Amino acid sequence: MASRRVGVIGAGYVGLTSAACLAHLGHDVVCVEKETSKVDLLAAGVVPIAEPRLEELVRQGLANGRLRFTTTRERLASAEVVLLCLPTPMGRDGAADLYALESIMPTLASILAPGCVLVTKSTVPVGTAGRIAELLRRPDVPVVSNPEFLREGHAVQDFLSPDRIVVGSAAPEAATRVAELYTGTKAPVLRTGTASAELAKYASNAFLAMKLSYVNVLAELCERVGADITDVSRTMGLDERIGPLFLVPGPGWGGSCLPKDTSALLNAADAAGVDFELLRATVRANARQQAMIVRKIRDAVAGSSAGSLQGIRIGLLGLTFKAGTDDLRDSPAIAIAEELAAQGALLTAYDPRVPATGNRGLPRIHVVDDPYLVAKDAVAVVLLTEWPEFRELDWAQLAAVTDRAVVIDTRNLLTDETLGGTGFTHIGVGTPISADS
Ligand code: UGA
Repeated sequence: MASRRVGVIGAGYVGLTSAACLAHLGHDVVCVEKETSKVDLLAAGVVPIAEPRLEELVRQGLANGRLRFTTTRERLASAEVVLLCLPTPMGRDGAADLYALESIMPTLASILAPGCVLVTKSTVPVGTAGRIAELLRRPDVPVVSNPEFLREGHAVQDFLSPDRIVVGSAAPEAATRVAELYTGTKAPVLRTGTASAELAKYASNAFLAMKLSYVNVLAELCERVGADITDVSRTMGLDERIGPLFLVPGPGWGGSCLPKDTSALLNAADAAGVDFELLRATVRANARQQAMIVRKIRDAVAGSSAGSLQGIRIGLLGLTFKAGTDDLRDSPAIAIAEELAAQGALLTAYDPRVPATGNRGLPRIHVVDDPYLVAKDAVAVVLLTEWPEFRELDWAQLAAVTDRAVVIDTRNLLTDETLGGTGFTHIGVGTPISADS
């Protein structure tokens, strides 16, 4: 495998993971980040985000000299490939905001070496490669689309053992140079046009969102007709055409990617005159799911879905948008907590990755560092994030300190084995209520 000189712009979770993993695969990587404090930390081998193995790979790269961090963009001048890993947040109109990418082009135009390949790695709308080429005005620098498919909490694993790599380009040599960066991963490489590669990323995330909204609505139907979503989804998942993953109902899907990407794809479809009703319904169903969970909680603690939550003490287990991350962005747990607080509930929360100190901008949630404090005098405990360690709690001890031993398990994480003999009434999503006595 040819070792390349690679530049990475941006040290967020995509940029940092890409830089550390490419160095691990044998390339010579310089990662440019504008925040001096972050560069200082990274250069000292300290990784500010929680990603398994990432710190180990960063330290390895620093030690063997294959990975460097800098704020100086001019260091990209010797790169043969430069990856753009800048944020593309949701703009006010729901479309992706490309400001960070576009505004850097004049600088890059004057720095990049002749024949360097410029790669869009972060999620960008269809047409962005062309737009970048226009802004760059460097016909000798081909622009290639090579979107990432990294899950938070599994980013290193997903980079080094991906299901697939897509390289979109009209320039075959540039595409080959990008594809060869991944030789060490053994993943299948799909070579496409730029529009297909750009769209494939949105299409994948939107499809996952659709699968989740489908299973969430199906869970509601299960409750109405006396079926159990666990059995229904297990049956569905054994069909190879459907697959078992992304079939667990929850409090709604969230995070920094699925909500932003479904919205951007809807926006792109609208702009192209395509009525993507299926995706619109997917997004609507997600908002409804959070409202449904709030109703379920009201039902359980106030006796009816119209009952008042004023002054009622509720304990929350989990705040991050999923387990395995410390990310609170677009977390359904937070949205649900905010709604409960708005209705007057008194909330105490525990999350293994959210420290009690500081409360991270959550003024209406009393965050504690002991899960047993969450249950103290609570009328109900609501499990919002599927942290496996919640299964290991001493549920009998939790029951002993609650006001009423009721758990609303929005992730269907707890089992009869966990709760049997503890006195807890278990209310899941799409499953029959089981009362332990
Ligand atoms: C997602 C995609 O899975 C990655 O492939 C993609 O690269 C990434 O976005 C991105 O665009 O950068 P991520 O945002 O880390 O990754 O989160 P997921 O693991 O996809 O989970 C999304 C949401 O679905 C979470 O709220 C999670 O709790 C929920 N979920 C997932 C369920 O409710 N049930 C499931 O069975 C699975």
